[in-house]
Amino acid sequence: MAKNTVLTLKKKVDEGGKVTMVTSYDYTMAALVEEAGIDMILVGDSLGMTMMGYDSTLPVTMDDMVHHTRCVTRACNDTFVVGDMPFGSYQTDIPTAVANAARLMKEGRCQAVKLEGGVTVCEQIRAMTQAGIPVVGHIGLTPQSVNAFGGFKVQGKSVEAAKQLVEDALAIEAAGAFSIVLECVPADLATYVTEQLSSAFTIGIGAGSGTDGQVLVAQDLLGMTTGGFKPKMVRQFGQIGEAMKQAYRAYDEAVQSGDFPAAAESYKIDPAVMEELRA
Ligand code: KIV
Ligand code: NA
Repeated sequence: MAKNTVLTLKKKVDEGGKVTMVTSYDYTMAALVEEAGIDMILVGDSLGMTMMGYDSTLPVTMDDMVHHTRCVTRACNDTFVVGDMPFGSYQTDIPTAVANAARLMKEGRCQAVKLEGGVTVCEQIRAMTQAGIPVVGHIGLTPQSVNAFGGFKVQGKSVEAAKQLVEDALAIEAAGAFSIVLECVPADLATYVTEQLSSAFTIGIGAGSGTDGQVLVAQDLLGMTTGGFKPKMVRQFGQIGEAMKQAYRAYDEAVQSGDFPAAAESYKIDPAVMEELRA
């Protein structure tokens, strides 16, 4: 696989291909994504839930994001890695937003950053872009605003809300973002937004098949979620959680029965050494 860049990703979309993106939060999982040839990794602030056990993304800090992004980028040569800007790291003032984005690039070693919001975060996007930081926008259901939304719901269903979504997408593009994530948006609206944009490509999650690319949370895609809840927009392409539990149980049973470790899995010593030791 060749190295993915902003230019190769745009080229893929221009030639009619679809961009694939999945979240990763650690070295092992990212190495597997890279070996599978996925175009992009998002080190999402969803790690607050998947890695840290919080019930939302809100408590995630810049230190958390830098830590996990660095773990992921150590595994990636060709995969394009996007680091997510956590809640509170870019909503205050422009210099702080740019400094935090630059920190994620420098210390996390990602190739781009992502931030949630439309028209209201365009100044931040413009300032980051001018600082040489490639930016991915994120509109529709933006989980950092869950308290303002009053829950996780499909966005853009009324004429007013749909118009706002289009306006947000165009503003983000004009501010310099090279790509925009559309989350939980009706399929026809996501297709319309994708058509309206000229330079930025769209990446959908719960946004139908008309976007330029797709993103899923790794744990959802792999079937590693605990508790059994599966949102409508998720397809489980594996049952890795079940496979992991089976392996853990088999290990436990093999240890209890004495089957593991076997002689072939153990190290030998010269019997003479043991004889002398016992003497
Ligand atoms: O944090 C995340 O995983 C995300 C994706 C769902 C787009 O923002
Ligand atoms: Na996120």
